[in-house]
Amino acid sequence: MDSPTASVFSLPELRDIFPGCTSYEELYNFSINETDVFWGTLARLRLRWSRNFERVSDCDMETGLFRWFIGGQLNVSVNCVDRHKEKDANKVALIWEKDEPGQEERVTYGELYTMMNQIANVLKSHGVLKGDRVAIYMPACPLAVASMLACARIGAVHSVVFAGFSAEALASRIIDAEAKVVITADQGVRGGKLIELKKTVVTAVANCPSVTAILVAKRTGNPVVSSQLDVDLDEAMIKESGECEPAVLDSEDLLFMLYTSGSTGNPKGVAHSQAGYLLYASLTHKLVFDCNEGDIFGCVADIGWITGHSYVVYGPLANGVTTLLFESTPTYPDPGRYWETVQRLKVNQFYTAPTAIRLLIKHGDEHVEKYDLSSLRTLGSVGEPINVEAWDWYNKVVGKEKCVVVDTWWQTETGGICISPRPSAPGSEIRPGMPMRPMYGISPAILSEKGEELHNNDVTGALCLKKPWPGMARTIYGAHGRFLETYYRPFRGLYFTGDGAIRHSDGYYQITGRMDDVINVSGHRLGTAEVENALGQHPSVAESAVVGYPHDIKGEGIYAYVILKDGFVADTKTESELKGIVRQKIAAYALPDVIQICTGLPKTRSGKIMRRILRKVAADQTEDLGDISTLADPSVVEDLIAHHRTLI
Ligand code: PRX
Repeated sequence: MDSPTASVFSLPELRDIFPGCTSYEELYNFSINETDVFWGTLARLRLRWSRNFERVSDCDMETGLFRWFIGGQLNVSVNCVDRHKEKDANKVALIWEKDEPGQEERVTYGELYTMMNQIANVLKSHGVLKGDRVAIYMPACPLAVASMLACARIGAVHSVVFAGFSAEALASRIIDAEAKVVITADQGVRGGKLIELKKTVVTAVANCPSVTAILVAKRTGNPVVSSQLDVDLDEAMIKESGECEPAVLDSEDLLFMLYTSGSTGNPKGVAHSQAGYLLYASLTHKLVFDCNEGDIFGCVADIGWITGHSYVVYGPLANGVTTLLFESTPTYPDPGRYWETVQRLKVNQFYTAPTAIRLLIKHGDEHVEKYDLSSLRTLGSVGEPINVEAWDWYNKVVGKEKCVVVDTWWQTETGGICISPRPSAPGSEIRPGMPMRPMYGISPAILSEKGEELHNNDVTGALCLKKPWPGMARTIYGAHGRFLETYYRPFRGLYFTGDGAIRHSDGYYQITGRMDDVINVSGHRLGTAEVENALGQHPSVAESAVVGYPHDIKGEGIYAYVILKDGFVADTKTESELKGIVRQKIAAYALPDVIQICTGLPKTRSGKIMRRILRKVAADQTEDLGDISTLADPSVVEDLIAHHRTLI
């Protein structure tokens, strides 16, 4: 699949940097055996430092203390903006592909520099200091990117909250982070619909005493609810200088936190630090996608997720390319939207999730075939396992079998791509439906249920990573104990990903999905406990249990079993009220697809719900329920099967 001119490591410089290595395998082995030399060399070459680091790494998988590029000082915004502006201020940094096609706006590195500095000065004027947290509740747009960079400029820690979360979900994230300022827009526009961002922020902030200002950007200009904390961001920016001295930050100062769902409790603020994250995001961006100077990189993820952080903002900007900010949906105004955008903007690398691919397959090939997609070279997939049918369609119908298709496995916690077909030696094969090979410096292991590493090929088990890498999360904000328990205790001394994987006979990795109570809905992580907590707040609900089931577009759908309190009878309103409470507590994407009202749940004698049975009933696979004799009341199962709801 490689073009004959492709270099050994996809990144020509790597051959010059590590001349002793003449193949991908040699360089990979070098990165594992000589970790500090590998990462130290790249950090010196790829980042601009204010002060050189003294030591490459000091990591301990037992205590969960990780430090990279110790003693070094730098500023991420300088690396993402200043150094490219100095070379060519007129180079386009961002293309904002607005909701309506054909209305794109371009922002040069010079313009981004000014916007970022103005916002940094606005933040300073509102008392934001190094280490303070700033919540950003905005869809993908230049001001959102400039706001993230403005935080980086002054050393504030940003917490971008996906602009589809409800006021309560936003409030809980603001409270946990004790954010001082919230940056938002009056309204969002997506798929032709208005989203009430400001209204949601005002409702949320009413319960957040830490917030002293709400900076509001103008997106639609429509009148919206106001509050005493409002600051008109556009007006405030005009008053500020377009220069702001970058803060000199330590490699390990926090850059951002991003909340993500786990199997228990509230979403956790996964925290990333400056230098290691930036190096890892920029290197993986360049190597995996083969993204070079002059390319237009199109990642259509929202900036509210880690994919948006690493591959809309930090990776592409650190590499000085042009990055797309996609505001719309795959089907607006019609299912050709992605491909019309690719043709019009001449996008070179396109990165999306399997759920979008599966949705577009259903709409038919004609929506793709109308457009000239010859600019495309790399097609990426992320967020959930990609089924072979979707992979083939992406490769053939979109890529015309001329593009390199990369299934990329990684997580909010890993900071960047960890397993993907690239980088690799030229001509090496790419298999449909799996991420295949570890990135340099990444050392996967498959662990058995007993906690033993399975050294052979052709094995299935828990996916762990054995060695630290610069992009790894440093902690869960304010909860280092939970960080340790979640990632470093299940298999002592290793990072546990929460995913299961197969290592095939040829050594390639395939991801089987989450092993914990996290479900993956359209590539978005959701804890079943979060949905259960939301349902439990409805006055009629006595108990609930939520599981995922296979869904042909979303990957996993949400199936909720609900027991009503005595005296409550399910009527036509119940289902919509239950969905309403999930929307109010979390977000629309968390709405159960199916709600089954039941009289009992399958529990062991010690009262533990046997979710395995609930998953089987939800998936309509009741012929193979396994041993149910340990249930306190096995007849519950028959009742569940009898009232099983047809899947949507
Ligand atoms: O289960 C894996 C799945 O998404 C989870 C991470 O979700 P999040 O932190 O929201 O980050 C998503 C974008 C990086 C993983 O634990 N996942 C992600 N990519 C893949 C995947 N599952 C299979 N194949 C992938 N390529």
